[in-house]
Amino acid sequence: MRHIMVMNAKGGCGKSTLATNIAASFALEGASVALADYDPQRSSLDWLDRRPADRPEIVGIAGFEDGLRHVPRSADVLVMDAPARSHGKELTDLVRHAETIVLPVLPSTIDIQASTNFIEELKQLSRVANKQVKIGAVANRVRDNTLAFDELDAYLLHAGVPYVAQLREAQNYVRAYTRGLAVCELPEYLAWPDWNEWEPFDAWLRSKRSQP
Ligand SMILES: Nc1ncnc2c1ncn2[C@@H]1O[C@H](COP(=O)(O)OP(=O)(O)OP(=O)(O)O)[C@@H](O)[C@H]1O
Ligand SMILES: [Mg+2]
Repeated sequence: MRHIMVMNAKGGCGKSTLATNIAASFALEGASVALADYDPQRSSLDWLDRRPADRPEIVGIAGFEDGLRHVPRSADVLVMDAPARSHGKELTDLVRHAETIVLPVLPSTIDIQASTNFIEELKQLSRVANKQVKIGAVANRVRDNTLAFDELDAYLLHAGVPYVAQLREAQNYVRAYTRGLAVCELPEYLAWPDWNEWEPFDAWLRSKRSQP
């Protein structure tokens, strides 16, 4: 079973948005997917409640209540949505479940600084130091030709973790969430720029580069 965790101690950077989109992209390929929400805010589980019955099924797990006990043994992929402000023991316990960490970062100085601190904290963990977990950073809500994006881009190129995707700021993410869908399930004429951006990210998630 693949274990993919979306995390960053910074709030509002797109953890739930990425977790739901990653889960749906694997489900669309025919994989058996579980989506564990570790955040009592339950954004990922609320998205699942909105998911139309005719879309590929994803099993929801209330990780914040009872951990991973109910993850089906038959699952091929487990995607985990971590809560904001995870530090110390809580962070160590969460990372124990991950073999891949997806780390979204927004184009803003506050988010970059918070992410710098978080990456440093992650690197202190023995699982990360021993390369039992692979980390990939994602620039999220990107707007081209803005100073904020240039700052984020320059930062992620030297942040000491692989820089695996750039996802634009798009209403498609809001639209998709509302309908219980992923951007890859929106019509191509509407979402083709997002599909293009997900291509290298999907490839990374399915490659050895994202697995210990
Ligand atoms: N690429 C994007 N384009 C447009 N809106 C986005 C994008 N990514 C996320 N959002 C929006 O940003 C807001 C925060 O995203 P999300 O809830 O996924 O972040 P989070 O990290 O899970 O937040 P929290 O720390 O509260 O759990 C949401 O309103 C979401 O729809
Ligand atoms: Mg969230």
